[in-house]
Amino acid sequence: MSRDPSDPMEAEFDTVAKWTAQVAVDLGPQYYVPAGCRGSGQPAALDWLLQSLRPAPGELLLDVGAGVGGPAAYAAASTGVRPVLAEPEPDACRAAATLFGFPVVQADATALPFTDGAARLAWCLGVLCTTSGPDAQLALLRELRRVVRAGGRIGLLVFLAVTGTLDDPPRGNHFPTSAGLHALLGRAELDVTAVAGSEDMPAPPAAWHDRTAAVERELQRRFGSTPQLTAANEQSHRIGQLLSSGQLTSQVLLLERK
Ligand SMILES: C[S@@+](CC[C@H](N)C(=O)[O-])C[C@H]1O[C@@H](n2cnc3c(N)ncnc32)[C@H](O)[C@@H]1O
Repeated sequence: MSRDPSDPMEAEFDTVAKWTAQVAVDLGPQYYVPAGCRGSGQPAALDWLLQSLRPAPGELLLDVGAGVGGPAAYAAASTGVRPVLAEPEPDACRAAATLFGFPVVQADATALPFTDGAARLAWCLGVLCTTSGPDAQLALLRELRRVVRAGGRIGLLVFLAVTGTLDDPPRGNHFPTSAGLHALLGRAELDVTAVAGSEDMPAPPAAWHDRTAAVERELQRRFGSTPQLTAANEQSHRIGQLLSSGQLTSQVLLLERK
C-alpha cells in the first residue's frame, strides 16, 4: 500500500483511522465500537452476517481489511467470537490494537499471512471496492477461500455499481457490478448461499447514531482544516451521493467454498 499522505484513500484509511481512535479514547469506551465502524459496518448488517456465519463462543474469526476494528469488536461482544485482524494500513492497525486489544497483523488481503484452512470463519467488510481492481479483487476472494477450511463460511459486505458509469466516483475505488462480482466469485470457487441488500436493513439505533455523530463532530472540530480529513469526508460524501441516487448499492453475502 502506498505511503502518500495526499492520497485520499491513505488519508481515509490510515491518518483518519488514527485520529478516530484518539477521539474515541477521549470520548469514552461506549464510543469505541461505533467509531471503529466508520467504514461499512452498522448493527443490522453485522447482525445479519453473524446470524449467517453462526460463530461459536471462542471461535476464531479472521477479519480481512479490518480497519479500526469496530465490526470485529461488535462480533466479539455479541457472540463471543475471537477475532484476528488483518489490515494493511499501519495507523489503522495501531488504532484497532489501541481500542480493542485484538491481535492485528499488517497485511494485504491478496497475500494473507495465514495458513491454508486457518479458520472456519472469515469476513471482509467494505474492502473489495477499495482494492486496485478486478485482478486484486479475484486475488482477495481466492485468499479468503484459501484461509477458510472446507465447510467454513465467509461473510462479505460489498458496494456494487448499478449503472455502467458513476457520476463523480470516490477516487481509488473500483466498484464491481453484481454480474462482475458473481463472475469473480465463480472464478474463486466460492458459492453464494445467502444475500441481502444492506440498504433495506433497519437504521442504526439512536444511541449508535448519536455516538457516530459525536465522533464525526469531534473529528471535524480537531482536524477539520486538514487536507486528510477534507479528503476523507469528500470520499464518504461521494459514496453517499452515489448510494442515494441509486448508482451504487450495498449488499451482504454469505459465501461457502465450492
Ligand atoms: C471501508 S474500510 C472498512 C473497514 C472495516 N472492514 C469496517 O467495515 O469498518 C476499507 C478497509 O479496507 C482496507 N483495505 C484496502 N485495500 C486493502 C487490501 N488490498 N487488503 C486488505 N485491506 C485493504 C483499508 O485499509 C480499510 O481499512
